[in-house]
Amino acid sequence: MYESVSISMVSAASAAAAFFATYYTFYASQKPQVFASSLKLRNFLDEHVQLLKERYWPSPLYAGGHLQTILGLSQRVTSPNKLPYRREIFTLSDGGEVALDYMEIEQKSERPLMVLFLPGLTSSSHTSYVRTLVQTINKSGASVVVFNNRGNGGVPFKTPKTYSASYIGDLEEVIAHLKQKYPETRFVGLGTSLGGMVLAKYLVTKPLEAKNNFECALLLCIAWDCVQGSENLEKPFINKYLINKELARGLRRLAKKFIDKFPDVSLKFDPKLALSAKTVREFDSAVTAPQFGFPNVLEYYKSATTSGHVHKLSIPVFALSAEDDPMCPGHLLPREEAVAENSKLALITTARGGHLGYLEGFGKSSTHYMERLVGQLVEGIRVYGGAELTDLSNGHL
Ligand SMILES: *[C@@H]1O[C@H](CO)[C@@H](O)[C@H](O)[C@H]1NC(C)=O
Repeated sequence: MYESVSISMVSAASAAAAFFATYYTFYASQKPQVFASSLKLRNFLDEHVQLLKERYWPSPLYAGGHLQTILGLSQRVTSPNKLPYRREIFTLSDGGEVALDYMEIEQKSERPLMVLFLPGLTSSSHTSYVRTLVQTINKSGASVVVFNNRGNGGVPFKTPKTYSASYIGDLEEVIAHLKQKYPETRFVGLGTSLGGMVLAKYLVTKPLEAKNNFECALLLCIAWDCVQGSENLEKPFINKYLINKELARGLRRLAKKFIDKFPDVSLKFDPKLALSAKTVREFDSAVTAPQFGFPNVLEYYKSATTSGHVHKLSIPVFALSAEDDPMCPGHLLPREEAVAENSKLALITTARGGHLGYLEGFGKSSTHYMERLVGQLVEGIRVYGGAELTDLSNGHL
């Protein structure tokens, strides 16, 4: 009797294990897909990004998008914890200050490569995924400069002004400064999440300048459709009560710094509303929209949306997104625009990965899937980019 119970338990356990193995092998782990109409871009990826030929095996412990998103920060570690950046404080034309954190590497080339890195919402050069990516780029032989937004990266607000996903003024000033300082350097723009949205906004509104200033760009986990992306972020339970709430907490912390710094200045928003915002939308409605002159939060989200404008891109853009990213689920990704005639976008999608998650294996590491992909891309661009991608920027596909 006991024997038959234990036998049925064993068979139930092995059936469950077999089910999980089947599920994991056939559903959770899949090859990434590439959406691009340009033969040149597809060839470039084919030759230099070997990772695209293999499946992405998400961490079996947390394969789903929510857990990937939530654990993405804590499962990334670098040694040393604080990277040895060289910091430059750059003063903007209105007196505001931003920190530019450099990790330079000696390059034999006469035209060395530097990646201009725009981090996400309230991230800075010391956020874990920024550090792991910076280290990856360094390993690929390129220099990096991280552009920390106003009030971030340990730099206090100097003026009563914050930043937003659709405001490109600060970025334009930083680019002009870098181009003057490094006239011989080839630049690649890389933006994650909100930083990628600012970069995308710049690329589609300033195509001529973009072509002069950048060789190509990388957009990681951006909300292509900010209107619908933010709606998705409000769906119960996990999106709304865990992820959105946590993001709002970071924003309130930033607002507190800001409000404490300017107690006597008449602000463009109501500090009480700012400090009680429970979601990103409440915060943007209370602070970001009025700060940047939008009549309401919807107009701001429309302005931060790049979907529908992809045809305006003037340089090659490589984008990576997971279909289970809570900020930009699969159906909002601009696949059609990527494969439209003359498109300069190569959109790489994975079934899993979440928002800036892309975890692999069973524990903490300095290189998960996102880092490995960026490493191969940057190395490819550094070694072959100039010749293989420049033509494309000139409109020859
Ligand atoms: C960057 O790369 C150089 C040369 O390979 C290496 O010596 C240095 O330790 C790297 N820096 C970091 C922070 O990984």
